[in-house]
Amino acid sequence: MSSTARQRMTGTTSRRIEPFADSIWPWVDQMSERNPDAVFFGGGVPPTDVIPIDRLREGSAKAWADGPEVLLYGEVRGYRPLRELIAARMRARGAEVDPNDILITNGAQQGIDLVARTFLDPGDIVLTEAPTFMDALRVFRSHEATIVGVPVDEQGLVVDALRAILDRLPTRPKFLYTIPTYQNPMGVTMSLERRQALVELARERGLPIVEDDPYGELAYDEPPPPMLKSLEPEVIFLGTFSKVLAPGLRVGWIAAPPDLYEAFFNVKEGTDIHNERIMTRSIYHAAEGFLDGHVARSQEVYRRRRDAMLAGLEAAMPPGVTWIRPAGGFFLWVTLPEGYDTDAMLPDATDRGIIYLPSSCFYPDRSWNRSMRLNFSAHPEDRIAAAMESLGESIRAQ
Ligand SMILES: Cc1ncc(COP(=O)(O)O)c(C=O)c1O
Repeated sequence: MSSTARQRMTGTTSRRIEPFADSIWPWVDQMSERNPDAVFFGGGVPPTDVIPIDRLREGSAKAWADGPEVLLYGEVRGYRPLRELIAARMRARGAEVDPNDILITNGAQQGIDLVARTFLDPGDIVLTEAPTFMDALRVFRSHEATIVGVPVDEQGLVVDALRAILDRLPTRPKFLYTIPTYQNPMGVTMSLERRQALVELARERGLPIVEDDPYGELAYDEPPPPMLKSLEPEVIFLGTFSKVLAPGLRVGWIAAPPDLYEAFFNVKEGTDIHNERIMTRSIYHAAEGFLDGHVARSQEVYRRRRDAMLAGLEAAMPPGVTWIRPAGGFFLWVTLPEGYDTDAMLPDATDRGIIYLPSSCFYPDRSWNRSMRLNFSAHPEDRIAAAMESLGESIRAQ
């Protein structure tokens, strides 16, 4: 669409569809144009050398072999064998989930939107971690929710701060959206004590919890504490194959208690009837008997890359710069000393060859601009080491 056409449309519509509102990506595109040789450390996807394309191709051949019946309308819930596989994997992680409690979605992102559509009216309060996944913020904003951020430290969401926020809010929030394991963007994991305290507080206050868990299987040290869903069956759980297989597949799921399930089912059916049927079958055939091994191999690669980034930071960062060691996932959170501004520094870092995501885009009120999210999964170790040197130079130059 031309920019004039876009202007004409947005002049007459509500802010719900303002193009690119809140998006970091046009800015990232500008940076890439500014220096096409700069390496992008802002992503959050498995690198192409880890995506099991041959296995997915085999899975797809099996899906097509199921014949033309597969191309008719099917179950809104999604392909039953895939739901059984997901339920078994969740059970292995401690959450008792029935395949009928699982609704296949177009990625976890659609799960976030289905939850928002089901729960939110304009002006409702939503609690998120501060910082949190920026595309969740975009969804909540598009539903005109008031987003209230809850602080996060190295042990995850600060439950005492949440309690204090609940005490002072004028109305009860509709839900808490949290990423307890290998959080995006900080890479932190909520401790078991915090998880127990959170579940307890949520029960006490009647606060629904939405647990978003795209990275939970990508552990590089000891296994993470149990999922919130395994501590509290009422939790609305969002899962995805985007990080353990590939994001372009667009297959995720919601696991929800039956009364809420019905609401999500209706909204999903009203939105797109059901997921595309070949891909869900392809994933099932590809994942069965393969996914555990693939996850283990991916963990090896990502652990080495994480360690390379930690070593690179250790070698290249000036005094006063701090970072959090992630035990899994894709992200490393770096914080600069007082007086620095990672928004303002991005063009210089880009000129020196590294593009990161500045912290402001992960905060509901954009209030914190001294940190950055670095992705360690996407690049080989030597490139990571070189990029950390460039970053160190850029920080010294400020
Ligand atoms: C926390 C979180 N939730 C959801 C998503 C979206 O996942 P999907 O590709 O399954 O829609 C991402 C992707 O970056 C994410 O980091």
